[in-house]
Amino acid sequence: MDFKDLLVLFFALIFLRLWWRYWSITGGGPKNLPPGPPGWPIIGNLGQIILQRRPFIFIVRDLRAKYGPIFTMQMGQRTLVIVTSSELIHEALVQRGPEFASRPADSPIRLIFSVGKCAINSAVYGPLWRTLRRNFVTELINPNRVKQCSWIRKWALENHIKRLQKEAFEKGFVEVMSNCRLTICSVLICLCFGAKISEDEIKKIESVLKDVMLMTTPKLPDFMPVLTPLFRKQLKEAKELRKKQLECLVPLVRRRKAFVESGGKSSGTNVEMASPIGAAYIDSLFGLEVPGRGKLGEEELVTLCSEVINAGTDTSATTVEWALLHLVMNQEIQEKLYKEIVEHVGKEGLVTENDVEKMSYLGAVVKETFRRHPPSHFVLSHAATKETKLGGYNIPEDASVEFYTAWVTEDPGMWEDPNEFKPERFLVGDGVDVDVTGNRGVKMVPFGAGRRICPAMTLGTLHVNLLLARMVHAFKWVPVPGAPPDPTATFAFTVVMQNPLKAVILPRVKG
Ligand code: HEM
Repeated sequence: MDFKDLLVLFFALIFLRLWWRYWSITGGGPKNLPPGPPGWPIIGNLGQIILQRRPFIFIVRDLRAKYGPIFTMQMGQRTLVIVTSSELIHEALVQRGPEFASRPADSPIRLIFSVGKCAINSAVYGPLWRTLRRNFVTELINPNRVKQCSWIRKWALENHIKRLQKEAFEKGFVEVMSNCRLTICSVLICLCFGAKISEDEIKKIESVLKDVMLMTTPKLPDFMPVLTPLFRKQLKEAKELRKKQLECLVPLVRRRKAFVESGGKSSGTNVEMASPIGAAYIDSLFGLEVPGRGKLGEEELVTLCSEVINAGTDTSATTVEWALLHLVMNQEIQEKLYKEIVEHVGKEGLVTENDVEKMSYLGAVVKETFRRHPPSHFVLSHAATKETKLGGYNIPEDASVEFYTAWVTEDPGMWEDPNEFKPERFLVGDGVDVDVTGNRGVKMVPFGAGRRICPAMTLGTLHVNLLLARMVHAFKWVPVPGAPPDPTATFAFTVVMQNPLKAVILPRVKG
């Protein structure tokens, strides 16, 4: 080896060292990003995440202990800034809400399902998002509309109770999650399309939309867009699933459109258009002009209605399942709740939407469930509208900002015995006066906070309250003999019970 070779080797080693340093140190440096775990060249922390084979939420929980209230993870080409403290979440989402109100870029797969970000949850912060969200709020969840559509919940809950009775008769126990998903899904389909459809059709839609959710959860190409051409098979599968989604929902769009255009005449099909013209969410979308796109096409209509069904089904069903787990495990809480329900409607009365609003213990049980088991541990990914600072660090415009809101509900500095399930804390303890919107401070924000807060917070809570009250009013819930419930949690879009809750139901009123 002559001197020239040695010189080349020397510079190559220096280059390699600098290159490794550049890629492996996540935070600090000239970019002044928040600190974070050292990564590997090019793929950053992605390799470590994949090798751990644990849901991301559990990895983040461990990293929070080491890196504190704000840290960076370099996931391939994507920079994730994770924010975990109550103060920083409040500063970003509420005090400086508009600055952090956007959404990051979507992967090619997600773009297929959102028709290029034409959905409330994925639209960037701007005129399209504003128009879609305003329409959603005025047409779907204003108090008059909610009242007008209360018959839908009454109908779905009657079916729900009958289905539970049948399942208990056939199997000796009932599965909570699958039944609640089906019922909530049927309510949301009817709110969107105004149609009462058969249980088989509801199951078909539910299953396709569940596949859509799984398909759109982050995967390798989301973090390494340069590798997208290598994932042609996944892209093809996504397009096939989108076709299936359209085949499932476009007929409903067309039937509703025909119903509206005919002035409310029945089409003679097996689908009963039960909501009057104007009462279904989709009726408002037929005529809506959105900035940059004009009138919405069938593809966009399917995306916007799927968004409602997806956003509202798992979140509410998960909450009911966790609440019932605690009621099954703690009969004292269940009896206290049953007593309250009977005080309001009697043993044989029917629990209505007006009744549940007045039940304070029910409210406390549901709030404690949202605190102890927030359906999503992160709100959806946010993005800054332009490069900014948070906690003294730079937040690049193209970074995904992830708010780990579940941590604040586990923080022993904020909650007494945070791991205990104690509904009473919302009547006389540390939960009284908690602002779940996060406006006055972030102590629990199961619906997010600020500009992007869940627009259907009251509707979601109503669904949970009603389901729970009706189920406890109709049956006493007890463990399956020899098979006590397992409270282990896992991630499946929302944070669910790893082994879905099964329980024996005993009719409260014999007859
Ligand atoms: C227990 C029930 C529910 C929970 C816990 C829940 C929770 C959430 C959360 C955490 C977000 C993200 C907020 C953010 O990114 O900062 C969100 C957004 C959203 N939710 Fe809900 N949700 C529930 C029910 C519903 C229902 C029933 C619907 C529809 C009828 C719905 C529609 C939406 C929409 C459209 C967004 C996107 C808002 C935006 O980006 O501007 N949610 N929800």
